[in-house]
Amino acid sequence: MPTLSTRVAIIGAGPAGLLLGWSLRQAGIDFVIVENKSREYILGRVRAGVLEQGAVETLQRLGVSEGVDARGLVHHGIYLQSPGLRHHVDFNELIGRTVTVYGQQAVVRDLEAAHDAAGSAVFYEAGDVAVRGIETRSPSLTFTHDGSDYTVEADFIVGADGFHGISRPAIPNNRLTVFDKTYPFAWLGILADVAPSTDELIYALHPDGFAMHSMRSNSVSRLYIQVDPGDDISNWPDSRIWDALHTRLASDGWALNEGPVTEKSITPMRSFVASTLNHGSLFLVGDSGHIVPPTGAKGLNSAISDVTQLSAAIVTHYADDSALLSSYSDTALVRQWKVQQFSQWMTDLLHVRPGTGDEAAFDYRSQLGRLDYVTHSLYAQRSLAEQYTGLPLG
Ligand code: FAD
Ligand code: DHB
Repeated sequence: MPTLSTRVAIIGAGPAGLLLGWSLRQAGIDFVIVENKSREYILGRVRAGVLEQGAVETLQRLGVSEGVDARGLVHHGIYLQSPGLRHHVDFNELIGRTVTVYGQQAVVRDLEAAHDAAGSAVFYEAGDVAVRGIETRSPSLTFTHDGSDYTVEADFIVGADGFHGISRPAIPNNRLTVFDKTYPFAWLGILADVAPSTDELIYALHPDGFAMHSMRSNSVSRLYIQVDPGDDISNWPDSRIWDALHTRLASDGWALNEGPVTEKSITPMRSFVASTLNHGSLFLVGDSGHIVPPTGAKGLNSAISDVTQLSAAIVTHYADDSALLSSYSDTALVRQWKVQQFSQWMTDLLHVRPGTGDEAAFDYRSQLGRLDYVTHSLYAQRSLAEQYTGLPLG
């Protein structure tokens, strides 16, 4: 029964867990990462695609930006569209900031490669992962791996195990309140082997529902449409998806290129925030502590901002100053609630509420009014630019 001793035991080898481990390594702090899925599974998950400027700067500062520097697509803004009317919001012109389109899978692949080269302790396909003693100063993590039972003794446990992980539920119910909201729609997303039909992302409101055109490279497009949350992917043959995209993204003089669909899935949308990201020796980062609807592209970016703050707090703790660690949860949640309201605002702006009555008709026209305001007011555009490219860390 192997027992390992380390400073920080991290649960989850998604972007948050791998980045935290890498950041601690750069500061010379020992860690172990334990993940219950295989590498192939993790790399097969198609998820986020947009990095805030601060997230790219974090990767650069930590020396893991070779991929994003070489293959990331720097975008100066986005297009916002109401039926037939497409407006460019130029973040760079408005506030001198940009975003970079680079898939979450690529971020994870780059971090895995860095950990491999450095010989980091990362256990994949671990079974029965459990935390113990989080209310003490000597917590531990137990799991099975390759037929052996492991114990990792640590100073801190970090839950980077996503929304469905075990770390948040380890906090007693009377110490944690959950704030959440579900939406009456979902996103159907596809990856297609075709050059993007746009230079920058298009977010479109249409009476049939939201549509978005994103990309992964100069030869791979990523596209989304709003669907019913109870819908099944089998109801959506490729031809029906392309038809919906053509209709919802239509703009005079513009054409959408079609290509072979290589992946498609439906993702429900919800907002969720835990009232604390810290209990005793346990700290939460990323989706284990909060999730957003994807419209503002904030999920991955929030995970990166949590990690940036927590790793700075752990580093200063070992330099004999625990103030940042004590305030980590409060500081991260202040930023997170601003991100939540932005994601909710973008979602409300661009999605059609189900229903056909007077209220639905009112809501849709009000949304058109809001879009017209946002695309014509310098102040509103600056506010959008500031939030989309990323608020400063608290
Ligand atoms: P995760 O990426 O979820 O990583 C958590 C890791 O912990 C996983 O590898 C998991 O296998 C592991 N784990 C879970 N339980 C255990 C356990 N018991 N023991 C050990 N390991 C465990 N955001 C956007 O901005 N745009 C998008 O288009 C977008 N699309 C998304 C689509 C889907 C289907 C999902 C689920 C999320 C999407 N997101 C999107 C959100 C974004 O991908 C997440 O915010 C981001 O992955 C958060 O990173 P994380 O490391 O905190 O969590
Ligand atoms: C992508 C996802 C988002 O949620 C978003 O707002 C923009 C782009 C993407 O997958 O490329």
